[in-house]
Amino acid sequence: MGPEPNHLGKSCLRPSNFTLERFKSVGELHRQKGYRNLTEVEYLHNPTQRQILEVISESRPVVITGLEPSPPCKDWTIDKLAERYGDAIVRVRSATQKQNMREFVQELKDFMENPYDQMVEGFVKPYTEGATMPEEMWPDFGPLFFDHEDFIPPQLWLGAVPTHIPTSSLHRDPHCGFLLQVIGRKRLDLYSADQEELIYPHKAYNNYQPCWFRPENPDYTIFPKAKKAKCISVTLNPGEMIVQPAGWFHQVYALDSPNMSVSYFWRY
Ligand SMILES: [Fe+2]
Repeated sequence: MGPEPNHLGKSCLRPSNFTLERFKSVGELHRQKGYRNLTEVEYLHNPTQRQILEVISESRPVVITGLEPSPPCKDWTIDKLAERYGDAIVRVRSATQKQNMREFVQELKDFMENPYDQMVEGFVKPYTEGATMPEEMWPDFGPLFFDHEDFIPPQLWLGAVPTHIPTSSLHRDPHCGFLLQVIGRKRLDLYSADQEELIYPHKAYNNYQPCWFRPENPDYTIFPKAKKAKCISVTLNPGEMIVQPAGWFHQVYALDSPNMSVSYFWRY
């Protein structure tokens, strides 16, 4: 996670022992529990911290509802973001220069005036792709249920992405993730860790383990086992949060534009 130069990161792709151990134990747990046969994600309304710890310990994904009134994430708009955090710096990975929220929102609006089918191949989508969330936003979108110190700094996923292109392609993370939906809806397709051999994860990776198999454009000639893979889909509405225990493979789509989510990784 450190600020290491890119070339170094790319030439030393090797998961840490923590990550290897985590994925191995989660795989065993999912096999024992038969999670590949799950057909839906469960919902918890206004859960206690204890209930959340319980689902994490059993590695069950769960959608949390009833988060009102704090944070007030049901009526956010991009105009409100520009108004409230106009000067906050938004670091978009693919952008060459830094922008503030006001500029980013303006660019997003300009972009949305043109339909996606008129875009040329290789266009840069106006999407923050998990940039570190500006600190100014923490009071409104900070982690819930646990202390700030328990989390890796929150990431911001704000922008416009066509519905058929995943905002995050199939991968898994070694930490438990909390994803809070703020503007628009997102769909998550989840694959349990016991299906590892069916979806062809990369062998060389750091923390984030991508898969070779692409469910949005499946090639069963190259990836025949993927035919047997089963996913559970869940749609997150604004104001809902998914708790995604470590090791679950997932692919994410933005169902509406503009779209905003905030994610937090629990350190443990
Ligand atoms: Fe992820």
